[in-house]
Amino acid sequence: MKIDGQTRIYGIFGYPVKHSKSPTFQTAAFQHLGINAVYVPFEVNPEDLQKAVESLKILKISGVNITIPHKENVIQYVNEISEEVKIVKAANTIKNIDGYLVAYNTDWYGFIEGLKEINPDLENKKVLVIGAGGSSRAVVYGLLKENVDKIYIANRTVEKAIKLLNDYLEHFKIVDKIIKPIHLSEIPDIINDVDIIVNTTSIGLNDEDFPLFDYNLINPKHTVVDIIYKETKLLKVAKEKGCKYQNGYPMLIYQGAKSFEIWTNQKAPIEIMKKSIGLHF
Ligand code: ATR
Repeated sequence: MKIDGQTRIYGIFGYPVKHSKSPTFQTAAFQHLGINAVYVPFEVNPEDLQKAVESLKILKISGVNITIPHKENVIQYVNEISEEVKIVKAANTIKNIDGYLVAYNTDWYGFIEGLKEINPDLENKKVLVIGAGGSSRAVVYGLLKENVDKIYIANRTVEKAIKLLNDYLEHFKIVDKIIKPIHLSEIPDIINDVDIIVNTTSIGLNDEDFPLFDYNLINPKHTVVDIIYKETKLLKVAKEKGCKYQNGYPMLIYQGAKSFEIWTNQKAPIEIMKKSIGLHF
């Protein structure tokens, strides 16, 4: 890698950020296309987020990804937010256009592109989305854009799923016919009605975590996605049952690929990015 006075700087703001794989696959993409740029991790304390965002202008950093826990808070510090950020209310990408910061959300796109690798046709599908936090909002936004037929949003706190529905009613017509908020305990009642099951909660990150529902209810016709970056208990059962299944890495790669394209206006070299972090899907 050659670094000189013209090398552009990209990076990621997170807390923590040490385990992020984005620096590896974004750098691989820049190198593959011969783009004179680097991508580095920045560990930004939550109380320093505003200053860190302002520093993008001062240091002329060309763009950053934004990850946990900053995705929602960052919105107030940029000059402009794109349409999808207005709806999802979270941003994971900033582009610095000569000192004017624009925030985007590419998580929803990453989720949909990843899912399409195992389930290409999403139109008219019925989906169970578990969780109603920031990740769920991006996943649901993507599913609505794909014209799915039904989205059950199952959450421990049903009020949060109802709030998600009400927020989206302002932006999508007939969403009250598509989204149905339910409690986790109601999953057994609807599971046979769905084609796709998506976990957006952090349950499963630790092997000792209790199951979100009785995983024995999963059947081979289900496609199962867990956005956690490992083979969770949920995915192990899906595998045993012979389901199509996927962990969080495809979503990670595709959200990063979209960020790369927003920054560079060049097509992201997906295969190179996947290979750089040892993925084959
Ligand atoms: P993210 O941005 O990753 O989506 P978040 O906005 O904090 O994170 O949302 C976390 C989600 O995981 C929520 O749906 C949360 O449920 P509540 O709304 O009821 O809090 C869910 N979650 C977290 N811990 C959980 C637990 N122990 N049991 C069930 N759901 C849990």
